[in-house]
Amino acid sequence: MSAEETLILVKPDGVARGLTGEILRRIEAKGYTINDLRMVTASRELLVAHYEEHEGKPFFEPLVEFMASGPVVAVRASGNRVIEGFRALAGATDPTAAAPGTIRGDLGRDWGLAVQQNLVHGSDSTLSAERELSLWFA
Ligand code: PPS
Repeated sequence: MSAEETLILVKPDGVARGLTGEILRRIEAKGYTINDLRMVTASRELLVAHYEEHEGKPFFEPLVEFMASGPVVAVRASGNRVIEGFRALAGATDPTAAAPGTIRGDLGRDWGLAVQQNLVHGSDSTLSAERELSLWFA
């Protein structure tokens, strides 16, 4: 059986705060493999495609704007159950509520800004992972 793959993004806040190395360290320390990695300032077109299931939600536009505001690091990672495992490593969406020990719980907080800055994204299913990997590693 070949290992599962996922797309992980270190979001603009994570890159700007110099946390890329720490986040990659946690991915590798957990035992997942980094198969590919690129730094990119994403276009609106890419982000609209990436977040297509959230189009129409109140946070959609601010989220796309925030994600386009600076470079992100896109990571292709693999390992058994890496999709579920990375989301557990990332912690809850809201960094204030995320458990200590998780990336968001240890490194994130509410900055009082209009948009949720929560450091990382991880695909939420095998279908999303396939779709998102083909967008970011076309
Ligand atoms: S939902 O509505 O339950 O599907 O939302 P969720 O899965 O928690 O989040 C989906 C993505 O939207 C981001 N998000 C937000 N961004 C900005 N502001 C607000 N208020 C907000 N709420 C959710 C959340 O971080 C998810 O983005 P990714 O990149 O997948 O982490």
